[in-house]
Amino acid sequence: MHIIIAKDKQDLGKKAAETVGMLLKKSPKANICLPTGNTPLPLYKELRNTFTNAEFTYIALDEYLGLDKHDPHCFSNWLAREILDPLDIPAKKRLLIDPSAAEADSEAKRHEKKITEQGGIDIAVLGLGHNGHIGFNEPGSAFKSPTRKVKLADRTRKANAAYWGGDINKVPHSAITLGLDILSSARQTILLVSGKDKADILQKSLAGPVAEDIPATYLQNMENVVVIADEDAASKLTQSR
Ligand code: F6R
Repeated sequence: MHIIIAKDKQDLGKKAAETVGMLLKKSPKANICLPTGNTPLPLYKELRNTFTNAEFTYIALDEYLGLDKHDPHCFSNWLAREILDPLDIPAKKRLLIDPSAAEADSEAKRHEKKITEQGGIDIAVLGLGHNGHIGFNEPGSAFKSPTRKVKLADRTRKANAAYWGGDINKVPHSAITLGLDILSSARQTILLVSGKDKADILQKSLAGPVAEDIPATYLQNMENVVVIADEDAASKLTQSR
């Protein structure tokens, strides 16, 4: 595991863009999954400003359930605004999850099958939840878990309420997430973490016992992982290294 420490969030964006840019230079047509959230915003800003000729295929990492696909809160629309539209990624190169799927389990299976047919995940860019979730694999998710419908933890809904005018009651209770099984097959994983509030969970994820109650600990058993953390998030990590 390679750990890169950035000075602050802006520097994290730069370093993440360098890493992603380098990988995409080697494999321009890579299949890449990207997270929503606060952490990757500086990366997307940097890529919008510096990246040209994007040819990658975007793979949805997770998506709320119970929304119309045009709802601006859908992760696919959020990512479209932040990165996919600005980089002109065509619709046929966006492997999305249908947030309005009536049969969530078959939608999850369809998505996973499509990824496999497409050649698997080349690059998984991930964020880290305060409870150690990866994608929406909440604590207790099996390391071999498939892509599936999940119930969102209260803490996750609380963290996401900011995108819903601060009203937790508006945040969906369920989602579809890529499972840890397919995520651990990614050829390259890049974990982005920023902020003091993530210092504890980052330390536990990278240096604590590998256990399903902290899903991110699966990364310890993987090769080709780059962690890019700002100094605040890495503060407890550096003490223990
Ligand atoms: C979102 C996702 C989540 C976030 C995580 C961190 O698509 O997969 O796992 O990456 O909750 O979110 P932020 O960056 O907002 O702290």
